[in-house]
Amino acid sequence: MSESRPAEGPPTSSQDVAHNARVWNHWLGGKDNYPIDRKVGDHVTDMFPSIGEVARADRVFLGRAVRFLAGEVGVDQFLDIGTGLPTADNTHEVAQRVNPAARIVYVDNDPLVLAHARALLTSTPEGATDYIDADAHHPDTILRAAAATLDFERPVAVMLLGSLNFILDTDEAVDIVRKLMAAVPSGSHLVVTHPTTELGGEGNVEAMRFWNENAKPPITARSRAEFERFFEGLELLEPGIVSCARWRAASPTDELPPVVPQFGAVARKP
Ligand SMILES: C[S@@+](CC[C@H](N)C(=O)[O-])C[C@H]1O[C@@H](n2cnc3c(N)ncnc32)[C@H](O)[C@@H]1O
Repeated sequence: MSESRPAEGPPTSSQDVAHNARVWNHWLGGKDNYPIDRKVGDHVTDMFPSIGEVARADRVFLGRAVRFLAGEVGVDQFLDIGTGLPTADNTHEVAQRVNPAARIVYVDNDPLVLAHARALLTSTPEGATDYIDADAHHPDTILRAAAATLDFERPVAVMLLGSLNFILDTDEAVDIVRKLMAAVPSGSHLVVTHPTTELGGEGNVEAMRFWNENAKPPITARSRAEFERFFEGLELLEPGIVSCARWRAASPTDELPPVVPQFGAVARKP
């Protein structure tokens, strides 16, 4: 593990204030959360009932995107920034089922994710996993630490699923993505999901206001035009920018899953 190791004792993360990683875990049906996370999370659900569906659709998208990249595209290196608490089908498990030699670096800045990071470090012997305790606001720090595990001369899938929404300033968020993508070669990919108040997410405006007054870290939604900016200079893969629930979701004969107000897209660096 880079920079720091998981705590042996009880979690150091604040139990008085709801934290996103733990509330996300609650919405996904996990048990790694505190009463304050469940209280705030349930209040958000009352205000914005589709939030649980958003979280589940986001994880299903993660599985589809990683399987597609590891399988059809042949990417075998993943930099997953804003990993979240370990759950079913973490990035390395999905990627290494397709290619046991896949190498994955996880990054999060939540103390409880760090405390649970051992569950993210169960690599196949052929591959590798690492966990970096770092803040997405500092891409240079992340890139330096990730270079211990990833070969930046070869394509990398940079994953920012549900995490750019915690970089409140859009210019700064775009700049972070640019720095990350500048460090990886042609054939690398960018994978992003992001909440929006479009796609039926109008109810999220009040829910996010409540979140920002009662939980950490503060969050923002983005419009499609703002989301598009993350992909400037990259080639968006089919089907482009869609609700993450619909991204390569169904065979021609299957029914498409319901739209959730969370954009999802994958793009290739030319
Ligand atoms: C909504 S969860 C998404 C988890 C996972 N990527 C997924 O899609 O299921 C967002 C995660 O981003 C992390 N996060 C928020 N702000 C961050 C920052 N500035 N740097 C690193 N991680 C951050 C949170 O701790 C949380 O684990």
